[in-house]
Amino acid sequence: IQRTTIPQIKAMKGQQKIVCLTAYTAPFARMMDEFVDLILVGDSTAMVGYNMENTLAITVEQMTAHALAVTRSSEKACVIVDMPFGSYQESKEQAFRNAAYILKHSNAQGVKMEGGEFLAETVQFLTERGIPVMAHIGLMPQYFNTMGGFKAQGLSPEMADRIYHDAMVHTQAGAFGLLIEGSAEPLARRITENVPIPTIGIGASPDCDGQILVTEDILNLSGPRIPKFAKQFADAQASIRAGFKQYAEEVRAGTFPTLAHCFGVKKDD
Ligand code: KIV
Ligand code: NA
Repeated sequence: IQRTTIPQIKAMKGQQKIVCLTAYTAPFARMMDEFVDLILVGDSTAMVGYNMENTLAITVEQMTAHALAVTRSSEKACVIVDMPFGSYQESKEQAFRNAAYILKHSNAQGVKMEGGEFLAETVQFLTERGIPVMAHIGLMPQYFNTMGGFKAQGLSPEMADRIYHDAMVHTQAGAFGLLIEGSAEPLARRITENVPIPTIGIGASPDCDGQILVTEDILNLSGPRIPKFAKQFADAQASIRAGFKQYAEEVRAGTFPTLAHCFGVKKDD
């Protein structure tokens, strides 16, 4: 099996929907690999995996470790990694240094960064130097403090025009794709229709070229904070809790382990 490349992801626009999910660890990467085109090692692991209030505190080292777990546990999906807050906003040089570090130490294929027009020169700088960039626009969780929380974006015509403009400058700068989060549906559709690169939606539009969701959100593994756009596709929590309950009961009752789970037991004893 050959791993899906970034040019192959780009070429899917207009041909077939691009199926994306997040993964941070080996088990989920291994299980989703045959079903998805692209795996995002998202900084949402700050909230989903570490129970932090927002995504700001995750580090380059943590993202790199998660990305390595994912590339080691998948062979078909394209793997891209979120650049964490503070690792790329300062300058295009800082962005290249940290993105190169993450890719060198994780074997992932590209990065994703959140930002409007200011980020376009960084997108171009990295792309020219061999690092594919997906630009994340619309609702950008790393701007939690300037936004004052998580709020849907592009609902007013002025804001929609600003985000549309962001999409155009990132496309010009060479982004290989646009991730559109938590934005007005007509805006996401208008962007999709007017850029030659794939749009990946989350709380965006059915007409986006692909879709992404946070894996734990769709399996009922996220706890109480599930966004409106996350449909539940399975109840993994129920089956996992049932397994924990059964294990606890059998240990307490002395019915697990049996000699079949032990070493050095003579068969005919
Ligand atoms: O970190 C993440 O999981 C993301 C998705 C919400 C797109 O950026
Ligand atoms: Na993210």
